[in-house]
Amino acid sequence: MYKKVRGMRDIYGEEVEYFKYISEIAENIFSLYGYNKIIVPIIEKTELFQRGVGEDTDVVEKEMYSFQDKSGRNITLRPEGTAGVVRSYIENGQHKADPVQKYYYIGPMFRYEKPQKGRYRQFFQIGVEVFGIKSPLIDVEIIYMLIQFLKELGLDNLKVNLNNMGCGKCRKKYIKKLKKYMFKHKSALCDTCQRRLESNPLRILDCKKCGKKQFIKNTPRIIDNLCDSCLEFNEKLMNYIEEFKIPYSIDHSLVRGLDYYTNTVFEIIAEDLDSSQNQIVGGGRYNDLVSTLGGVERPGLGFAFGFDRLVDLVMEKELEIKDKKPSVFIAWYLNDKNELLKFANKLRSDGIKIDFKYKQVNFSNQLRYADKNNFDYVIFYGEKEMKSEDIHIKNMKSGEEKNIKFKNLKKFIK
Ligand code: HAM
Repeated sequence: MYKKVRGMRDIYGEEVEYFKYISEIAENIFSLYGYNKIIVPIIEKTELFQRGVGEDTDVVEKEMYSFQDKSGRNITLRPEGTAGVVRSYIENGQHKADPVQKYYYIGPMFRYEKPQKGRYRQFFQIGVEVFGIKSPLIDVEIIYMLIQFLKELGLDNLKVNLNNMGCGKCRKKYIKKLKKYMFKHKSALCDTCQRRLESNPLRILDCKKCGKKQFIKNTPRIIDNLCDSCLEFNEKLMNYIEEFKIPYSIDHSLVRGLDYYTNTVFEIIAEDLDSSQNQIVGGGRYNDLVSTLGGVERPGLGFAFGFDRLVDLVMEKELEIKDKKPSVFIAWYLNDKNELLKFANKLRSDGIKIDFKYKQVNFSNQLRYADKNNFDYVIFYGEKEMKSEDIHIKNMKSGEEKNIKFKNLKKFIK
């Protein structure tokens, strides 16, 4: 017997129903806000992520599934969606033609992380990327849209954490200051952060081990080191946040694990999930990424949520799938299977979800099957019913059984 590769998982049964349900809601809401779906490849050139996400990030340094194809090209299974969408935006000439583009995507991402519940090596993201808009109004609108989506799913107990990482210019100055400060406390840093001091000092701020220490809490804050235009941007952003009534907390240690962010960064934490995998959404602005990857200067921003974590959360909270189509099982006893097929197809063409057993077995066996497989209704269909206008139906949840007119069936099972 073959087993799946470590960190991968099979998704089936009820969980798949939740995946379908959640993506339907996401797609509906995103399209209400003017987003169009984009499908980009799962594999890209390794260089795209090295340059886009950043060589010194954990994702690029340790977690990528990179290999050479048969022609010796260095390719990588995408660890995240933003870099590929930016590549497509540039490659297809959108950055010059119509700079404002609003996309969403759904698909698998791959990171070689230590597998555990809520953390997989192949996981799914639903993401959004917007290009060409400088105003902080869009930063707030995408957070608002996200909250609307999560509310629609019935989720609460969520925390929006916000920070501003400044632009390339003010961040450079800030990093200098940060390094100077951290060098003074070098011996108190964990081994990873001692290394990060040179390669990626910002990440020291969100280190789980060092973050609790007092000297980290007293670190100079990015927000106090913003240049004038970043300050102005931040002020406008905070006004919009108040106007949209977005519940938020400022988290000065929020720096995100990918290098492309400028100004707004945010994440949403589900307080009902275990703390090691409770970040369900991460996002922010990336004003320099389009030009870094070879396009003209165009601002961008977006977010992605961890689909697997969201499904876990919705299922753990036993939130029901709204407007679920009822499923109907035909318990049949007929001499001619063709009649069964004709009957089933007539109902299906009426939009009713129908299934039955392909082999003829007794009614009680068929009922047991329908019960075990969570059908909502069972219709009994035999030689007598075939000739009648009436139909005998059982509601599997309430146990109620009755005869109804065939023509009223659709209304009855709504
Ligand atoms: P990220 O924070 O690296 O951001 O990932 C987004 C979300 O993907 C996380 O909040 C988490 O829910 C989920 N996730 C990450 N790794 C795993 C894993 N191994 N297993 C399960 N879920 C996981 C990005 O990827 C950015 N591209 C988001 C973005 C879009 N920023 C701007 N635009």
